[in-house]
Amino acid sequence: MTEHNSKLFIETVGCQMNMLDSELVVAALRKQGYELTADVAEADTVLFNTCSVREHAEHKIYSALGRLKFSKQARPQQVIGVMGCMAQKDQELIFQRAPHVDLVVGTGQLGEIPRLIGEARTDRKRTVAVSLDRRDGTRNEVSQSFQSYDPLREPEMRPSPFQAFVRIMFGCDKFCTYCVVPMTRGPEQSRSPADILHECRVLADQGVLEVTLLGQTVNSYKYVENGRTWRLADLLAAMHDIPGLVRLKFVTNYPRDMTDELLQAVRHLPKCSRYLHVPAQSGCDDLLKKMKRGYTIGEYREMHGRIRATLPDAGVSSDFIVGFCGESDEAHNKSLDLIREFRFKNSFIFKYSPRPGTKAFDLLPDDVPEDVKRARNHEMLAVQNQISAEDNVAFIGRTVEVLVEGPSRNAEKRGETDATAGPVQLTGRTSCDRIVVFPGNPRLAGSLARIQIEDGTATTLLGSIVTREYQHGSSALLPILA
Ligand code: 5AD
Ligand code: SF4
Repeated sequence: MTEHNSKLFIETVGCQMNMLDSELVVAALRKQGYELTADVAEADTVLFNTCSVREHAEHKIYSALGRLKFSKQARPQQVIGVMGCMAQKDQELIFQRAPHVDLVVGTGQLGEIPRLIGEARTDRKRTVAVSLDRRDGTRNEVSQSFQSYDPLREPEMRPSPFQAFVRIMFGCDKFCTYCVVPMTRGPEQSRSPADILHECRVLADQGVLEVTLLGQTVNSYKYVENGRTWRLADLLAAMHDIPGLVRLKFVTNYPRDMTDELLQAVRHLPKCSRYLHVPAQSGCDDLLKKMKRGYTIGEYREMHGRIRATLPDAGVSSDFIVGFCGESDEAHNKSLDLIREFRFKNSFIFKYSPRPGTKAFDLLPDDVPEDVKRARNHEMLAVQNQISAEDNVAFIGRTVEVLVEGPSRNAEKRGETDATAGPVQLTGRTSCDRIVVFPGNPRLAGSLARIQIEDGTATTLLGSIVTREYQHGSSALLPILA
């Protein structure tokens, strides 16, 4: 059914996989005539793309839904939908907590959203479209019930003309005891190399320079076809030959699957970003065991040593959970020591949030008080920030290459998006994923620029575009063309 002049409001929380899902759903709806609006009050269709990784993210969505309680009185045609991880996890419970919701669509049914919205509008009945619970079928049946949604994209529907996410695998079989993702995204499934490469070629033809490959454990990618096994390293090698692409990134890595073969591929394929996100989660063996992460600190150290030996300049980042069940001060201090030892480029730090449906929720008491979690979170952030700042300051005087992304968020807030009143504050990223801010013309967006670094904070490098470079000779400064 084709809709016209229907206004769509969408709010997206959570990971990059959710951002990609929203992009694809919005594109499908715009194709049917929907128009995006930033004002929920004027929307005929309201969608929330949700995250269940921490309770806080769910609260935010339930509060936003609560605020919409009476909005249908003003717009009787309005359809309110909850999609993504919370939809898969809470299912009918969402109707109990927010009876004005019309649609609940899990991560494995996103392709059906346009049809389901149309039906909800005409039939005015509530629908739940979700995948099987992991215990409710054979592995094959459950896998099939999680259909990933990866249609080809039209260039004008993409949020950035030169950057794109491409899903290569989805779901997770690692079952870390704290994590709800194996339930909300289903069994681990890898997409076929032919589909992925075709998608990348189409994107490159449309002008995409940087592709970020996505997967919950992206380096566990495995696809067997005609007797050949494709791993992430093989995909990167094949993508490297695609004309037009200049940068290849991939997130998030699982420490145990960080093979030498993958590190060698990154080393020898110059388009690969020198950036590896490899979450450690904790610096204490007891905690890692309780988390069922599948490695010891000794094994993580060995893996990290291989990264440093193969890719000495790579930016390595991590995730940590503070206040997991039974975490003592001593265990917490081991995590701080780990950050000091490995000097991560940055770490994402989270307070443990017990999640129904996980092993930890069922079996391990959430026994670290909230104020202790908060204090540990702050302390860890301070340790990490100091290291990030020190390592960024060490860039002062160096010249880096960045892919220019466009005006910085501050410049956008100030309304500075063209250069009529002089240079605008732009932002870009280095190959090792450092954010660089510098003045320039917004038309540089989507190009590679060389930036001389003049200052650094924990989160940002600051500099200016190199117009001439000087080589220090023994007798004179020789200008060379940049
Ligand atoms: N509580 C807090 N943090 C969590 N993460 C996953 N599950 C939980 C939870 N229950 C964190 C992990 C993961 C990141 C995406 O979110 O650090 O790497
Ligand atoms: Fe969650 Fe662990 Fe899977 Fe990551 S590897 S998605 S933390 S279960």
